[in-house]
Amino acid sequence: MPQMTERPPVISSASDVEILPLVVQRRVDDRGGIMVIDLAAPDGAALPAFTAGAHVDLHVEDPATGLHLVRQYSLCGDPADRSRYRLGILDAPQSRGGSRALHRLARPGAVLRVGKPRNLFPLYAGARRSVLVGGGIGVTPLLAMAHVLQAQGGEFALHYCARAQDRTAFLEEIAEAPYRDRVHLHFDDAQPFLATRDLPPAAPDTHLYTCGPSGFMDWVTAQAAACRYGAAQLHREDFNAEVDTTGAAFEVVAARSGVTVGVPAGVTIAAALREAGVAVNLSCESGVCGTCLVDVLEGVPDHRDSFLTPEERSAGDQILICCSRARSATLVLDI
Ligand code: FES
Repeated sequence: MPQMTERPPVISSASDVEILPLVVQRRVDDRGGIMVIDLAAPDGAALPAFTAGAHVDLHVEDPATGLHLVRQYSLCGDPADRSRYRLGILDAPQSRGGSRALHRLARPGAVLRVGKPRNLFPLYAGARRSVLVGGGIGVTPLLAMAHVLQAQGGEFALHYCARAQDRTAFLEEIAEAPYRDRVHLHFDDAQPFLATRDLPPAAPDTHLYTCGPSGFMDWVTAQAAACRYGAAQLHREDFNAEVDTTGAAFEVVAARSGVTVGVPAGVTIAAALREAGVAVNLSCESGVCGTCLVDVLEGVPDHRDSFLTPEERSAGDQILICCSRARSATLVLDI
């Protein structure tokens, strides 16, 4: 998934994550501070398959802090091409380490540690018509979707929204892509996206996919809803969803670690445990990937993720500690 914002560096015990060492085969420093890199197996072997909308975790050792950073980036190449993974990485000005380190380290020939692709933003199989609306670096998973829809002969359009043409990446790639005739460029100063003009009529088999900053996706989905698109037809990449840390303070007992911590408003369980020296597995830090799942031994979780099913939430015996909180004064966790 595109990394729109940088999160604080996290310590990740990634020993249980399957990681591929991949070589930076090609790097292009595109407009808008976006670096496009192609990653390949050192021996040229075919890479694990992925589907459009998938992302990978990049595991980065930050020499400045000595921490192991994990960042997620959407795969923006053609899923039919198993020879490489293509990523677009924004050098975010507010970066606290991840993208900055990657822009520094990802030189041709460098080896990066890459998790196997996972897809939390897939194309809907039953769609007859698809509309892809990307904002800035959020276009990356939609480029992979465009490859697939074009190969399938699907009916679709890709709307790519950006501030200005001279700050927009991927333009050369799009101009040469087989789907180039399906792409509509929207710049703030020229032909901005307008749902009433740019969206096809709402229909049960017409699906809209949007990715970009949260505010952009809120704006796109609100416009689509106003055009009578139903919730089942709207798909958004919530990988960068902000975590709601409001609410009363509570206590967490990390039973296996023998540590008890207070979790005030504004702090996640994961952050409180980490501060106390407890190792936690983190990846998306948005409640969507499931990496931080922990068993609940006592207490009542206040689920704020989008990973657990309604049944799993009701069971109350698991919690995602990157985002969820407690309804009870104390939670005892198996960590
Ligand atoms: S780290 Fe992804 S759900 Fe918590």
